[in-house]
Amino acid sequence: MKSSIKIGIIGFGTVGTGLVKILLQQKDLLLRRLGLPLEIASIADRDIERDRGIALPPGVLCTDAAKIIQDPEIDIVVELIGGTDPAKQYILGAIEKGKHVVTANKALLATYGEDIFQAAAEKEVDVGFEASVCGAIPIIRSMKEGLVAEEISAIYGIVNGTCNYILTKMSEEGKAFAQILQEAQDLGYAEADPTLDIDGADSAHKLAILANLAFGTPVSLKEIYTEGLERVSSIDIDFAEDFGYKIKLLAIAKAANGEIEARVHPTMIRKETLLSTVGGVFNAVYLVGDSAGEVLFYGKGAGSLPTGSAVVSDIVALARNIIKGASGRVPATAFTTPSRKQLPIKAIEEIESLYYLRFMAEDHPGVLSKISGILGENHIGISAVIQQGRKTGGHVPLVMMTHRARERDVRQALSNIDEMDYVSEKTILIRVEGDDE
Ligand code: HSE
Repeated sequence: MKSSIKIGIIGFGTVGTGLVKILLQQKDLLLRRLGLPLEIASIADRDIERDRGIALPPGVLCTDAAKIIQDPEIDIVVELIGGTDPAKQYILGAIEKGKHVVTANKALLATYGEDIFQAAAEKEVDVGFEASVCGAIPIIRSMKEGLVAEEISAIYGIVNGTCNYILTKMSEEGKAFAQILQEAQDLGYAEADPTLDIDGADSAHKLAILANLAFGTPVSLKEIYTEGLERVSSIDIDFAEDFGYKIKLLAIAKAANGEIEARVHPTMIRKETLLSTVGGVFNAVYLVGDSAGEVLFYGKGAGSLPTGSAVVSDIVALARNIIKGASGRVPATAFTTPSRKQLPIKAIEEIESLYYLRFMAEDHPGVLSKISGILGENHIGISAVIQQGRKTGGHVPLVMMTHRARERDVRQALSNIDEMDYVSEKTILIRVEGDDE
């Protein structure tokens, strides 16, 4: 009979600090919930000098991750260094040693998840990754267990706290992008390399994990169409308002007719929807199931304590299995391995959507009809138009909302329009989710 569950932590950064604070502060609560104490046996980090405001017993901190992996006393290894290397080697090394693993590493799971899950199944150990998607929201466990009866047809997620924080501040306070990003970094929301947040890659990593769990298919990151916030400007945020929409960076996955869509891009959603009201660092995932119908998860998607809390939930889940001598009870991918099928992912050109288009066009007679003519030739119907200002001889924004159209047709039309002399800049395209009006 074990007297405690011993944990080794690799990475003592933002999430590692949150995790350790919770393990120490909630010691009694966790003991009451688990029945055995959780003991921090060892923490490895390159920097063990920095004051993190936490008092640890002597000998717990070290700089050698291998020491944790090799330690026969450690039951659960928690990987919180992020990135693919050397995190992958550490995790596979720990699995090889028969240890259960908890990780918050979405980039690693989106790229090498299949290898890690297979290694874990062979060694009959479990891998917990609740903290990899949406911080404090228990979305992974809900998809594996709470929603087990659901055939999921669609996921719409605001899954990057940094981007949501930036879009919210741009929209509500009109602050400059760079200043808001710096705030998000200071608050511990952004990745070590914040381009991963801004260019949508972090959201794509999370979508790969969610779509895999939802549809029982491996999802290749390369096939997820990904656009970030680079081309979102306050002028489009303002026009979106005029049309009754908010712009959010959405991770979208849909399944129909044996195919899936998986894409990340700025998206306009109606102001009346709950998702549109999700602000700041908050994340939300809106799922559509066949029996449950629509389900919305909401919570803090980044930050030290919210993400640390999700790591603790995995540690406790694995510790409960250890206490009962069980492993592999819930498949890591939410489906049994033989039942998973490789479903094709639609190319972005094949999707259908509503579109917001902003042309920068010469303000002179005939231009509107030329643009709408080219859209019409490409089977794209217009549902609303705003033409702003009058600047003789200059270029003004000409904004259109389309009816449902095929992306291939929209791209063809825009490539023709953008070549015309009366258009001064590449046209801005933002996909719009909702019903055709
Ligand atoms: N950088 C991520 C975000 C952290 O902003 O959502 C949580 O995964």
